[in-house]
Amino acid sequence: MIKFIDLETQQKRIRKPLEQRLKKILDHGAYIMGPEVFELEEKLAEYCGVKHAISCSSGTDALLIPLMAWGIGPGDAVFTTPFTYHATAEVISILGATPVFVDVYESTFNIDCEKLEIEIKRIIKEGKLKPKAIIPVDLFGLPARYRLIDKIAKKYNLKVLEDAAQSFGASIGAKRVGSFGDVAATSFYPAKPLGCYGDGGAIFTNDDHLAEECKAIRIHGTKADRYNSERIGLNGRFDSIQAAVVLEKLTIFDEELERRNIIDANYREYLNNAQYHPEGYQSAHALFSIVLSSNHKRNELIERLNSNNIPSVTYYKNPIHLMRAFHYLNYQKGSLPISESLSNSIVSLPMHPYLSKTDVSLIIETIQRK
Ligand SMILES: Cc1ncc(COP(=O)(O)O)c(C=O)c1O
Repeated sequence: MIKFIDLETQQKRIRKPLEQRLKKILDHGAYIMGPEVFELEEKLAEYCGVKHAISCSSGTDALLIPLMAWGIGPGDAVFTTPFTYHATAEVISILGATPVFVDVYESTFNIDCEKLEIEIKRIIKEGKLKPKAIIPVDLFGLPARYRLIDKIAKKYNLKVLEDAAQSFGASIGAKRVGSFGDVAATSFYPAKPLGCYGDGGAIFTNDDHLAEECKAIRIHGTKADRYNSERIGLNGRFDSIQAAVVLEKLTIFDEELERRNIIDANYREYLNNAQYHPEGYQSAHALFSIVLSSNHKRNELIERLNSNNIPSVTYYKNPIHLMRAFHYLNYQKGSLPISESLSNSIVSLPMHPYLSKTDVSLIIETIQRK
């Protein structure tokens, strides 16, 4: 049976060295923020080509912590898209700041930079909120347009927090995800391209001061003295066991990325309705999604896949601005048409490094069968 994501085959590859690492942890007993956590941080920073990698308890906290470090709060506007996992917007709301949703490109599903500038200007003109930051999302593993985003951010004096929850390992030219914007956040949720066996995440930055503040926030606002809080923080620490899992997965990560690349290319040979990948952009291929011509056609396809034992998932069937928790922002149906239309017509197909060419052929054949 074809799996949507195959963690079992992957585990077989890393099981032995992972067991050795786990045994070491059981022996040394430093379960939280132990040596594995710091070993991982060093390797992650090197991988992304940044000065600081700060691991933490989840991708959500990896987004929340930099916003806290910047003092984002009530009266502040933070720009992001409604076509993402809702954690991206949730962290803005938790702090009492206001998410301002910007529609996405129909082709890449990432933030539309022209619309971003229009929204920034609208918020400035309205004068009720202070524009503070942008959270571009690298949807399904594809980096957003950071050259343009950085230009806009500079023009309006905004911070950029890259939501790289789905895109660790991706790049634009020679620059890897984690090094865009002022700071980036990734997730080690098990289903991510680089996941652990629980919750986890990491923050990436070249900014020494920001790194120091993020490290403090992650451990209840403490710096040198564990029992003296210097600022309001969180329990955002990372576990040694989870760090060990990521460390072992990192040893096969590049090879897995290459396999994802090949599977993506196999799909694209026959499917012309997938996410557009611009020249020079290397996706991490967290998900492979196609857009159907209507909601009806999408649902029909899901049923056909289902009846052939092929799993599929709809990422995302509800755009965030129409979710009940975000009704307080007063967005109406029709206000962000591209995101709404994608939510109605998109479906994600199986994507993992262990899909065989036969699996992909079977999926394509089932899609093309009328
Ligand atoms: C785009 C995006 N942002 C944030 C998150 C939150 O990450 P976590 O589940 O590790 O908290 C996710 C996880 O699915 C995500 O896909």
